[in-house]
Amino acid sequence: MLSHREIRQKFIDFFVKRGHLEIPSAPLLPEYDPTLLLTNSGMAPLKPYFLGLKKPPSHRLVNSQKCLRTGDIDEVGDIHHLTFFEMLGNWSIGKRNTHFSKEGIGPYFKKEACELALELLESFGFNKDRFYFGIFGGDKDLPGVSPDEETRSSWLNLGIKEERILALPLKDSFWFSGPIGPCGPNTDVLYDLGSEFACGKTTCGPTCDCGRFLEIWNAGVFMMYNRRGDGGLEELTLKSVDAGAGLERFALVLQKAKSVYETDLFLPLISQIKSLAQISGEPTNERSVRIIADHVRAASFLAGDGLLPSNVEAGYVLRRLIRRAITHGHLIGIEGYFVSELSELVVKNFQEAYPNLSQMHSLIHQILEDEEKRFGSVLKRGISQIEKIASSGSLRIDGPTAFRLFDSLGFPLDLMKEVAHSRGIEVDAEGFKENLTGQKERSKKAREVESYDPEKIRSAHTAAHLLNASLRKIFGSGVHQMGQKIGIKELRHDFNFDRKLTADEIKSLETLVNEVIGKNLPVASEETTFEKAKTEGAEALFEEKYRQVDRVTVYRIGPDPKTGEYFSSELCGGPHAASTGELKSFKIIKEEAAAAGIRRIRAKVDG
Ligand code: SER
Repeated sequence: MLSHREIRQKFIDFFVKRGHLEIPSAPLLPEYDPTLLLTNSGMAPLKPYFLGLKKPPSHRLVNSQKCLRTGDIDEVGDIHHLTFFEMLGNWSIGKRNTHFSKEGIGPYFKKEACELALELLESFGFNKDRFYFGIFGGDKDLPGVSPDEETRSSWLNLGIKEERILALPLKDSFWFSGPIGPCGPNTDVLYDLGSEFACGKTTCGPTCDCGRFLEIWNAGVFMMYNRRGDGGLEELTLKSVDAGAGLERFALVLQKAKSVYETDLFLPLISQIKSLAQISGEPTNERSVRIIADHVRAASFLAGDGLLPSNVEAGYVLRRLIRRAITHGHLIGIEGYFVSELSELVVKNFQEAYPNLSQMHSLIHQILEDEEKRFGSVLKRGISQIEKIASSGSLRIDGPTAFRLFDSLGFPLDLMKEVAHSRGIEVDAEGFKENLTGQKERSKKAREVESYDPEKIRSAHTAAHLLNASLRKIFGSGVHQMGQKIGIKELRHDFNFDRKLTADEIKSLETLVNEVIGKNLPVASEETTFEKAKTEGAEALFEEKYRQVDRVTVYRIGPDPKTGEYFSSELCGGPHAASTGELKSFKIIKEEAAAAGIRRIRAKVDG
């Protein structure tokens, strides 16, 4: 039986043997994509390639990408839904004006994507008789896009029987990378897990969503369009393939497990959670055990990428995952700080594939424990209030009371509901919402962005390099960047430092950055090797990301015509301003604690 490590490696080796270049997983926090809160798919970090804005290092790429999606968070705990997952991806990035290259290893499209997919599935030894293949069947909402007959023919030519090919509606056969950005029709591979997984309805079949027919692979999104801000589709010059398989789902089938939680990706965590809760055998609260396992894994990976719990954006996702894990821990009788303790198992199980987990190991522990401490007392007080209500004989927490618990204690509604349900009482969610109206939304999850255009973040990106270099010049080379988020004309920069900056220090940083802006120094990139770049003193945030690739790009700011020295030298993928003069001015908006030993600067750039 293949272990999850072997499955990951076998998938990557298969595609490397067929001319694909292995690229490292990007961080979960998108570095340059203002349309996404978190990396939600293998292709997300590659969007500039699909749009023809950046030249890929090879036409064929493969990797295992860390991904996080919260859309299905309420389903977590069933057979296969997860928040964090690993996507095994293979890509063909198109060439201008042609689908196929005449020489060498070039890009491919529908026919070859299907051939590769079938060959890979056979090499893994999946039972062929259990497959179904979805294709785009046309949809009234996309009148300009024809049903995907080319992919149907490709499957037929490979010997797939007609009745195994399903023409599906838009929602199951057309993939959008986000509200705006590259998209196209796709072809899914469904695997029949067998009658023991069936829902029993007479209508149950390959399109039933009960879980019996599991989508194990999106064997190709045929990226042919770009969705604009107004919702319209425009055809892309490049025709590319974006395929992604869930490692967890492959493991479920190949390890003949009953759910993803019974695969070796989760077993160590699940058994430790059961032992902490003193559960033996099949527990009745299996769902809570699984939610804890999923959320602890997701939170450990997020913290490992330098994210900190907060009340906004991605930080809020992390906060909710930790707090929901703590609440379920409470529901099944686990005491003490267990989330941070369990993160050790996550690090152990995944550090080989994601070395940053071991580098960040103690910080992950600390970030999770800090949040456990913060939430522990809120949870205790909330529970005692709910218990009071339950023991008074009331079967319902009314709207104003629910709002009070939320507003004065900070007890989130969904967690309140879960605790209340466990005590046999309901929460008046509608009444709660009415009371909430007028209150500022705590979670700013969706941000409006007009278009996905990496060019728009050039100045902020260059400003981030200037800030990083200025911090190191003022506070010494022991200061490193611990995380960042680049937006349009704004940026967030985390760095290791153990105290608040003084007003004077903030002023000096601003002055230094603005001086370099005023000097209009050139920003230039150069391709080199990782080792050479490091020897020459270039900064690199995610070292392991770079260490695995042959060639890296160093962005240098300078030289200063007077001193001949470079102001900054950093490994980076770009894009950047051509010279610092493009930036006009730089202002620090906020300096705050991000975690023990980590400070965060938010800044704005004009230009
Ligand atoms: N991006 C596609 C998906 O997420 C295929 O990788 O399904």
